[in-house]
Amino acid sequence: MTPESPTERLYRLREESKMGGGQARIDAQHAKGKLTARERVDFLLDEGSFVEMDRFVRHRCTDFGMEKQSYPGDGVITGHGRIDGRPVYVFSQDFTVLGGSLGGTHSAKICKIMDMALKVGVPVIGLNDSGGARIQEGVDSLGGYAEIFWRNTQASGVIPQISAIMGPCAGGAVYSPAITDFIMMVEGTSYMHITGPDVVKAVTHEEVTSEDLGGARVHCTKSGVAHFSSPDDKSCLLQLRKLLSYLPLNNAEDAPRIPCHDPIDRRDPKLKTLVPADPLKPYDMREVIEAVVDRDSFFEVQEAFARNILVGFARLNGRVIGLVANQPAALAGCLDILASEKAARFVRFCDAFNIPIVTLEDVPGFLPGTAQEHGAIIRHGAKLLYAYCEATVPLLTVITRKGYGGAYDVMASKHIRADYNVAWPSSQIAVMGAAGASKIIHRREIQEAKDPQAMEAEKAAEYEQAFGNPYKAAARGYIDDVIEAIDTRPALIGALELLATKHESGPARKHGNIPL
Ligand code: HXC
Repeated sequence: MTPESPTERLYRLREESKMGGGQARIDAQHAKGKLTARERVDFLLDEGSFVEMDRFVRHRCTDFGMEKQSYPGDGVITGHGRIDGRPVYVFSQDFTVLGGSLGGTHSAKICKIMDMALKVGVPVIGLNDSGGARIQEGVDSLGGYAEIFWRNTQASGVIPQISAIMGPCAGGAVYSPAITDFIMMVEGTSYMHITGPDVVKAVTHEEVTSEDLGGARVHCTKSGVAHFSSPDDKSCLLQLRKLLSYLPLNNAEDAPRIPCHDPIDRRDPKLKTLVPADPLKPYDMREVIEAVVDRDSFFEVQEAFARNILVGFARLNGRVIGLVANQPAALAGCLDILASEKAARFVRFCDAFNIPIVTLEDVPGFLPGTAQEHGAIIRHGAKLLYAYCEATVPLLTVITRKGYGGAYDVMASKHIRADYNVAWPSSQIAVMGAAGASKIIHRREIQEAKDPQAMEAEKAAEYEQAFGNPYKAAARGYIDDVIEAIDTRPALIGALELLATKHESGPARKHGNIPL
């Protein structure tokens, strides 16, 4: 028999490394409706663009007979490739190898690509599918996680970090995705929780499944931990590609601009009638967004969580913007704890990555009640205020109807250094609505009137006439102009163009102290 040549050996070892934990475990992965780690990478990246690193790395553990369970690559596939022609680093945990569990060398592989991504200035994508800390490797596993957490934090605000949860993600393992910018989950096959159903049962006597404890639905609707959910692996990876199309490679670059085929002077007649004359009637702010931004460009983030505020990416004349919009169709568009946190995090992401923020405002104020006050709406609301105040990207604000109270200040008002503020003609910028305001300032007259109800209505009408419009604010320059609703698209595009060269920086400091 002729001896194996060095090249033959290379190709044999490469082929072996592609088999992960073996065919039976690959079949088991498929039987769960999941792709393998390698299939995911291939599907995610532009065809043929993946360059693998460290395929021959093996763990060094000899405890618990681990020397007999050694696989090339050590349960995680790492490397770089391209998405829409733009570079990314990626790791993909291989559940077929020791359950994708993380030990010292598995972690070192992930850390290596994170270090490279930071050096080169390109996003890191993590495809998570792991039984957590590799139990046989003990404290090396814990140290391995901490090395990743530290790098996640160093990279935060420098390069985009995206986590797709495509299988188990439990215990301290959840904290790497939690520090990254966006979390995507696959419905039915992924979960994230600190302690699993068995521990929950032992400690709190609650019976709950992994899915109900930390599945995609829970994290996208209740906890807000995740930003996107998809029915299967492929749609999750396609969504990830789409998300990336709105993001710059790093914090020194702009998000990619694409040619715009939607006329920049398009004036959608729908905007004339979308906002009801009655200030108490709801409408869907999503329709306003869609009428204003480049056709089909709105990509909503955290769609099913804190629905009283909408956040997402879109384009105006091909330029990426971050959109924050009160949603009158949910809780009348009030700001509450969850909405404030959701929007604050989004505003900070956009600011970190040079994405101008367009705010569409129709806000009656903060949500009243003991649940909100005791839940610290003061602190959580302050997060959104803080996030807007510290933002130095172009800030453009359109008041579509109500700009009331403290919420008016918060929602990118001129006073906190927004650059372009306009209001629609039927908008109302005031401390509160006419009924509430006139009841307070005319309390005595109303009480003493022969017909208190008639007096109340009369005073409310007076207040409405005087303050239920944008002209008091316009008279002071707190808004730059009052524009017709149908002119919003061309007006925003013009302002955005002008603001493209905006440069602003705050005072020198280590970092601020956002009210966390
Ligand atoms: C080593 C592990 C492992 C782990 C799974 N495996 N998890 N090996 N360390 N953490 C191995 C299994 O032994 C098995 O090997 C293979 O992976 C597949 O696992 P199964 O149990 O057969 O798969 P499944 O039924 O789908 O269940 C998946 C699972 C379960 C729910 C993840 O494996 C499980 O509960 N694992 C333990 C999870 C855990 O407690 N992890 C530690 C969490 S604490 P074979 O050879 O049979 O294929 C933690 C702390 C992090 O992570 C701290 C960071 C600071």
